[in-house]
Amino acid sequence: MKRLVRPELLDTLSPEDPRAVHSRRDLRRINWWMRNHVIMARVLGKNLTAAPERITELGAGDGHFLLRLAKEMSARWRRVDATLLDLQDNFSAPTLASLRALGWHPEAVVADVFAWSPPGDAGSVFVANLFLHHFDDAQLSRLLQKVSQNTQLFVAIEPHRFTAPWLVGQLLWLIGCNGVTRHDAVASIRAGFAGVEISARWPDQSNWQLTEHRAGWFSHLFVARRRE
Ligand SMILES: C[S@@+](CC[C@H](N)C(=O)[O-])C[C@H]1O[C@@H](n2cnc3c(N)ncnc32)[C@H](O)[C@@H]1O
Repeated sequence: MKRLVRPELLDTLSPEDPRAVHSRRDLRRINWWMRNHVIMARVLGKNLTAAPERITELGAGDGHFLLRLAKEMSARWRRVDATLLDLQDNFSAPTLASLRALGWHPEAVVADVFAWSPPGDAGSVFVANLFLHHFDDAQLSRLLQKVSQNTQLFVAIEPHRFTAPWLVGQLLWLIGCNGVTRHDAVASIRAGFAGVEISARWPDQSNWQLTEHRAGWFSHLFVARRRE
């Protein structure tokens, strides 16, 4: 099945719309079920011997994913600068406060990733959860080019693309997810990744070690680590 990128409803609704509020809550539950924060923590722990100076999450949503990741990492990583970047301003004050309580220094940035200028610190790590699938192949190439110029390590967890995405829609209905979430979940899987589709778009492949494979039932993991 070919990749198909279509607009997601959550991106078109105003943040205060009750359907969007419900759907963001659904997303937090789905994230918990998918255990992507645990997968991400394991990959970061394997690839870094110490805490990075800064971690940046691209498409950070309401910040809950980074908070869950911080909880996984905080015993080993203290005093990390964290940038949460998103097109929409959905960051909640309690989420940012919880990050601070773990000793992290969060900075919420509302911007389009393509227009944003990264701070450019060499010790920076970039992560993304359920974000890259928003972009068609040409946009993805541009985005990966930008990421590769600004980090040493990039870890992304995306939906794994498979042939019967509507099954997931039905499953989400059973656990009380609303129509927006069900629509977007099916659209995300159709726009998700399989094989080495992200690696194929990574620039300057000789200077990077790339890993890409299915992770868990529904996720697709991509890791790019700059060679020393
Ligand atoms: C499916 S949500 C995932 C949010 C979060 N990573 C999580 O796991 O809960 C994707 C996010 O990407 C953001 N997004 C989409 N296009 C973007 C862009 N061009 N620049 C920055 N953020 C973008 C959306 O606003 C949305 O919050």
